[in-house]
Amino acid sequence: MKRSFDLLARPYRWMEYGAFGRSLQRCRTHFLQDVRGARTVLVLGDGDGRFTARLLADAPHTCVVAVDSSAGMLAALRTRCASQGTCDRVITYQADLQHGLPPRACGQQYDLVATHFFLDCMSEVEIARLAVEVLPLLRPGASWIVSEFYVPSTWLQLPARLLIRSLYLAFRLLTGLRAQRLPEYARVFTESGYAMQQRDLRLAGLLTAEVWTAARHCTR
Ligand SMILES: C[S@@+](CC[C@H](N)C(=O)[O-])C[C@H]1O[C@@H](n2cnc3c(N)ncnc32)[C@H](O)[C@@H]1O
Repeated sequence: MKRSFDLLARPYRWMEYGAFGRSLQRCRTHFLQDVRGARTVLVLGDGDGRFTARLLADAPHTCVVAVDSSAGMLAALRTRCASQGTCDRVITYQADLQHGLPPRACGQQYDLVATHFFLDCMSEVEIARLAVEVLPLLRPGASWIVSEFYVPSTWLQLPARLLIRSLYLAFRLLTGLRAQRLPEYARVFTESGYAMQQRDLRLAGLLTAEVWTAARHCTR
């Protein structure tokens, strides 16, 4: 059987809590207050939907388009949203984002894009493609929020590198993930026409929560 994130869909949340407690979820929701006004939201690599469920619960006028390659993760997302009565405001597309956005996700404009612990599954080339495809789909004033692991320039640099390396090894064994290092997504975003507006380092600098916007508005 081909390994994929499907196998992790159920235990993923508990593995995360076991390893990091609530730190990753706090990172995902760090800018939630600032983006609750978003009407249409695109979440890439949404996983089991904990960010999406929280956003839909907090923002009753928000609709989410969630894209992920894992059917198991998307099923967990829909179950989570159904349990809180917000399933009618989420559309899920199963697609491999290594090949760019699925055409059905390109048929509308977005106020917010979210990628939480997903860009680390992609290469710089794949991120650049997504960044360029997303740009004309953004409404004026739209944001892209990012949560990621981070290597701080403190005494924690070496432990952070070891931690990230062991996470990649674990994901390669469990899911067959090809990526093996953190991509330079900040450079790619900047080169693709985005500008970072805010960054908050969390968990002693091992996690970063960021807000990006289009450096100039781009229409289709
Ligand atoms: C580490 S998990 C993070 C999930 C979620 N965003 C979170 O914060 O917990 C990475 C997610 O990206 C998805 N993913 C990985 N590679 C992908 C790809 N090429 N296309 C679409 N989804 C992908 C996986 O299925 C998984 O749900």
